[in-house]
Amino acid sequence: MLKFLYYSIVSRQEHLEILPHKKDINLTVVLIFFFKKNYRSIYNYLQRLILNPKIRGFFINLELFFKKKNLLKSPIKLKKNLIELNKNGITFLSKIKSVNFQKIYHSLNKIDKLYSAYQNNRFYYKSKKSKKIRMGYIDTMNLISNEEILKLINNENIISIVNHYLGANAIFDNIWAWWSFAGNEKPLGPQNFHRDYNSLNFVKLFVYLTDVDENSGPHVFVKCSAKQNILTNTKRFSDDVVKQNFKKNKIIKIKGKKFKLFLANTFSLHKGLSPRKKNRLLLCILYSVNPSRGCPKVPILKIENLKYKNLYKKNKYLNKMYIKY
Ligand SMILES: [Fe+2]
Repeated sequence: MLKFLYYSIVSRQEHLEILPHKKDINLTVVLIFFFKKNYRSIYNYLQRLILNPKIRGFFINLELFFKKKNLLKSPIKLKKNLIELNKNGITFLSKIKSVNFQKIYHSLNKIDKLYSAYQNNRFYYKSKKSKKIRMGYIDTMNLISNEEILKLINNENIISIVNHYLGANAIFDNIWAWWSFAGNEKPLGPQNFHRDYNSLNFVKLFVYLTDVDENSGPHVFVKCSAKQNILTNTKRFSDDVVKQNFKKNKIIKIKGKKFKLFLANTFSLHKGLSPRKKNRLLLCILYSVNPSRGCPKVPILKIENLKYKNLYKKNKYLNKMYIKY
């Protein structure tokens, strides 16, 4: 029985590497090994089962009890934004002068090789894109090797709000940038209302890298919905269902010039409208307390190869999943 359990969770190759000579396998050892190896997957699977915001809140507080909080001792920057984020689940940030957003846009716009999630799992070239393709994700390596983006992730004001909002020292967990191509108004995947379940305690920074008006896929967000036990299933919801359940003034459409920045708890109901006329490029950074499934298991970048070493060294804990010191 134990052997069966062991072989069903560990591949033969792993078995050979880890326990080469043992004939008798102790159940406790197997379970500890299984738990350690799969901790992140188990954690993320379980947190997706907790749908009620109040119960999620209970587990968030429980988890915070064990987490590092030394960074919360430093004074809160942009207190107004923090209050707004706590109240509505979203806050709009003023421009950050130390980051060259134009440079970020130019380097991402030049990338031709994109990944079309939600339609098929293949790469294609933007310059030769078929009209059927609706979205195009940029490879993560292109994003994390861009030091203007790393500078943005490490921005003092943003980290201060994020740490205080999450209630513990945050980690830079994941990053995405994607094109939403105009031409088809029928919503696809996250273009329908949904909640994100990336981790138990997380917040996302969004940056519009192109102008976003009515015709170029504005983000739609339901204020205060992160705290409401309404439409909490892990599925997509139609506009009508959302309108029936939430007041009109809570459903906001986020338009703005390029480089508009906002922090949002996307456990709140939200969607990105499908662009009608103009393509939209968006950058999204995930901060969390516990790593999500997409967070790297081993840091990919080496500090000695990076330009703004002092900044990253100052934020060792934040960058620990991506930068090897
Ligand atoms: Fe989402």
